[in-house]
Amino acid sequence: MLVMVCDRRIRVCGSCNAPARTPTVRSTVPLRKWLTSDVVISLRPLIAADASTLASWAVDPVFCAHAGWRLRESPVDALEWWQNAIVHADPKLVRLLALSDSDPVGYVDLHGDEGGRRELGYLVGPSARWGQGLGTAVARCALEFGFTELGLESIWAEAIEANTASVRVLRRLSMQPAGVGNRAEFLGARSRYLMFELSRHDWFERQTESAR
Ligand SMILES: CC(C)(COP(=O)(O)OP(=O)(O)OC[C@H]1O[C@@H](n2cnc3c(N)ncnc32)[C@H](O)[C@@H]1OP(=O)(O)O)[C@@H](O)C(=O)NCCC(=O)NCCS
Repeated sequence: MLVMVCDRRIRVCGSCNAPARTPTVRSTVPLRKWLTSDVVISLRPLIAADASTLASWAVDPVFCAHAGWRLRESPVDALEWWQNAIVHADPKLVRLLALSDSDPVGYVDLHGDEGGRRELGYLVGPSARWGQGLGTAVARCALEFGFTELGLESIWAEAIEANTASVRVLRRLSMQPAGVGNRAEFLGARSRYLMFELSRHDWFERQTESAR
């Protein structure tokens, strides 16, 4: 069973990550730690120095094919794109780097501007890390962050049906089926989006049940 422990004392440290100019809205987001039976995941806002890590995943063909990223010949080719994406972040997007201990293993997104409702996104990189429970762990942390720190009422997500791992992540998190979306292609196969949603009420009830 997954046990989550939140360490609210730890705060984002800007001084050790120069020239990390994180957008104001994110620099106030606390860094959090969750303890699971086999992995400790923490989430923190992206800083400019993270661009090199994210760019390094852009040379992994399997990762890029699954994540829909443009495959690059060298991490340097993606570096400027990531630096720009971090420094000039979409104001509707809360993107948090996921770390296992101090190792970056992916990121999570909570996106949108609808009152009390955001779209969840998540990835784990590079692909050598897949299949170890990290995807489920980081997405679970994002739900906790959204409901407890952002005070959301509802979180929704969509996954391409043929992206089995992504659908499994959402089902394992007890997100409820919420319909079928547009057609989509995944690894060259025709598929479609499956929509999922979880209310704060249901998430809280499940937390209480699993604590019993
Ligand atoms: C989706 C993703 C985050 C899963 O990460 P992960 O670390 O492999 O996730 P987990 O190890 O927690 O595995 C989740 C489930 O997927 C299954 N799985 C993992 N890799 C799989 C694969 N290649 N094929 C089929 N199932 C797979 C696992 O067995 C597990 O299922 P289970 O709970 O029934 O055992 C990762 O593949 C990824 O980053 N993909 C690219 C980006 C993406 O698709 N993001 C989601 C859309 S926003």
